[in-house]
Formats: sequence, structure tokens, C-alpha cells
Amino acid sequence: MPLLISNGRIVTATDDYVADVYCRGETIARIEQAIDPRSLPPDTEIVDASGKLVFPGFIDPHVHIYLPFMGTYAVDDYESASQAALAGGTTTLIEMICPGPQDDPWEAFELWKSKATGLAAVDFTFHMSVVRFEDDVREQFRKIVKAGVASFKVFLAYKGALNLSDEHLFACMTMARELGVIVTAHCENADAIDAMQKLLLAAGKTGPEWHGPSRPPTVEADGVHHLCSFAELIGTHVYTVHTSCDEAVRAALAARHRGVNVWIESVAPHLVLDRTYAEQPDFEGAKYVMSPPLRDRANQAVLWNGVKSRAISTVATDHAPFSFGTQKVMGREAFTKIPNGIPTIQERVDLIHTYGVCEGRLTLNTMVDACSTQAARLFGLYPKKGAIRVGSDADLVVYDPDERGTFSRKTGHSKVDYCAYEGWKRRGCAAVVTVRGQVQVRGGKFVGTIGRGQFLAREPTHG
Ligand code: URP
Ligand code: ZN
Ligand code: ZN
Repeated sequence: MPLLISNGRIVTATDDYVADVYCRGETIARIEQAIDPRSLPPDTEIVDASGKLVFPGFIDPHVHIYLPFMGTYAVDDYESASQAALAGGTTTLIEMICPGPQDDPWEAFELWKSKATGLAAVDFTFHMSVVRFEDDVREQFRKIVKAGVASFKVFLAYKGALNLSDEHLFACMTMARELGVIVTAHCENADAIDAMQKLLLAAGKTGPEWHGPSRPPTVEADGVHHLCSFAELIGTHVYTVHTSCDEAVRAALAARHRGVNVWIESVAPHLVLDRTYAEQPDFEGAKYVMSPPLRDRANQAVLWNGVKSRAISTVATDHAPFSFGTQKVMGREAFTKIPNGIPTIQERVDLIHTYGVCEGRLTLNTMVDACSTQAARLFGLYPKKGAIRVGSDADLVVYDPDERGTFSRKTGHSKVDYCAYEGWKRRGCAAVVTVRGQVQVRGGKFVGTIGRGQFLAREPTHG
């Protein structure tokens, strides 16, 4: 059905103006002032956006939905995760494919894709994790890139699980450069963490409050420096995921200063939560165990300012939902067994609006850039996604900036059993959300079609 979004304040990464947006089929067909509805087909659905903001659909470039990890599986599936994403204004997800070292990469790609197909209500694509890069699997990565996955993911952390050796890292980054593929990376020194964890556990320091001390900022900065050294030697374009602290940001900026093509991702939990959450008594802190860990509060200003100055390109979530009652408790005896992750897929944009824009830390344009446009540009989706332009996909968010509420598990669509921001003040919400011209959320409620989401095949753009 054709769709007219009338009289909204259109805010993109660069523009801010009032206009009507007419969507025909799956794309934006007209953007004009005062489109006469009588000039449109009689079945056109009209959304009155007076007094509201109209954003391009938000893109979350770092989520985990199907995730076998630390002896368990993340609890969401595409049905729950995409409804949660849409309720928060996110219309495109980039999920990490995370197979184990024994798994066949091509089969992993097909498995992850099958988990999304038919269940996703948002569009989706993937970063392909490389956890082993020996001769027998190399050609498979070429095939995966040809199939439309134009970004790799490497873990410098998680020794004995997802961690990639330096030999394999070098070879993988060499292929990435040849193919024009960007390498996204979890930057923490796996061996240092392993040694620190052993020391802490041997000293009887087993609670969730010791997760942070086992991987301090130095460990992350070391990882960033390491990745960037390889990028400098090889010429590969790299992206540091969930960059959490001043030291790590500085390491990336120093590399950029040397000419390394490095982009920085922050994630919403690090912008708004600090280490005191993970230090709460009675194992409550386990809800806030993620890696890199929550940091001293002073780092938040560094991250907000980095986003503001656009030194930090994106704000993602690293949504990794593990229930407290059944999964976080696996680490009661040792913090090293607490499944890592803080679910935030639904809350991201509202958190950035409430604690970024409304607190004067970011402009609306910067919020759109960091939560949508930069991800589209970096990962080969622009201007199909991340823009409000004639010809772009009609992924639109009609946002009510004056709505006031609180974050709560009760209004969450994720299957996880807690909300990390329970009771926090929220300003603003996505009132209407469209995916390729179809309304998927109205009045904050999911009214869309499960399975409408499409796989987005991407061309390499980092050649
Ligand atoms: O704590 C986190 N970040 N969990 C998900 C896996 C990862 O490292 O991204
Ligand atoms: Zn990670
Ligand atoms: Zn992650």
C-alpha cells in the first residue's frame, strides 16, 4: 500500500527540514513540501507526523541473536529480536556469525542465514567471524564474500574459544585487503586476560565485580594497537567494535594519525553504564558483565565526545541476551563462567536520545549519523539504507521526542528476563516504523509481518 508521511521534521545525518515523504512500493518516491493527497492513489495510507521527527531507519551494526557462547545460547531468535529492534526504531541488523573453530564456515553462514530467513521482521546482514584461517577453509571465505558478506569479524579475546592466532590474523587480513573487505575486531589481549583471570580466581576473587579488573583498559588498548599494527603492515581497513575506554580510543586515533584506515564503534552500554553496575552485591552485577567490561565513569565523557566529534563513527548495541535466572547464574562460582553480554537492542536509540540529545551531548544529526548513516556507509548499505532520499528504501522512523516513560522489562520484546536499564527515565519513542514501505510498528506496537525481513547482500567497499 502506498504511504504518505506528512508534515514531519525530517532529520538525517546532515539535514533538518519539514516535508512530506511519499513511499511507493518499497522505496521513497517523493520528498516535497505539502504533497496534495488528492494527487496520490486512493488507497494511500497517511501518517500524520506533525510535531514529530522523521529519521532514516536505524541500523545496529553489532548484534548477536543466534549465539552459541560460553556453554550456552543467547536467548533471542529473529522473531523476538526483530520485534525488539523495531520497537526501538531499528530497521536493519548486522549480526555476527560466530562459529566455533571446528565448524565449517560456509555451513555456518548458511545456518545463521536460515535462522533469520522467515523470522526476521527487519532487514539483516552479517559480519563473518574468522576463528581459524587455515588452507582448508580459506576459499570458503572468498565464497562467503561473493555471497554478499562484505565484512569479517575477528576476536583477539576469548582464549581457547573464538580467539584468532596472529598467524591466522595476518593471513585473514591479507585476504580481506585483497577482496576490499573491512575487518571488524574485538580488541582485547586474550593471553593477558587469561593470566589475570587465573590470578584473581586463585586469590578467591570469584564474584562478578572481578570481571572488570581481569581485563583493564590497558588490555583493550593493547588489542587495538595490535590490530592497527597489522592493518598498518597490510593496508587492511579495520573497525574496532565496542570500544569502551579512553586508552582504546586513543590507540585507534594514534593509528589513524599514522595513516591506518581504522573506524571506531562504541556501544550504548558503555555510554550510559559504568563499572559500579557490575559491582552490585548478591550477584546482581552479573547482569552487567560484558566484554570489554563497564569502565570508570570518566570514560563515558570520552565516548560521548568521540561520537559528537565523529571520531567515533557508530553507536551499536552488542546485544547479547543471556537470562539472569538461568544463564548468568552459571557463573555463581567463578566470574569467568558468567555468559558475557548486556541486552540493549530495543533501548539503544531511546537511550541515545534521552541521555545524549536531551542532555545536550549530541545533536539530532549526530545521533542519526552514529546510529544509522555511518553503519550504512561503512558496511556497503548506503544510500539504500541510512538515508532519506528519493530511491532509498522506505525504512522510516516517525519519532515522538516528547513522549516520556521508563525503560522496563515489561515493555521489552527480547526473551531475556531482565532489563539492564529498569526504571530509568526515557524521553522519546518510535511511534511509527516502516520497513521498505510497510508499517511494522504503530503507536509503539508491532503490527508488521514476521518474515518480511530480507537478507542484504553487500559488495565490498574497502578496496
Ligand atoms: O560481552 C560481550 N560483548 N558479549 C558478546 C560477545 C562479544 O564479545 O561481542
Ligand atoms: Zn566482542
Ligand atoms: Zn559482540
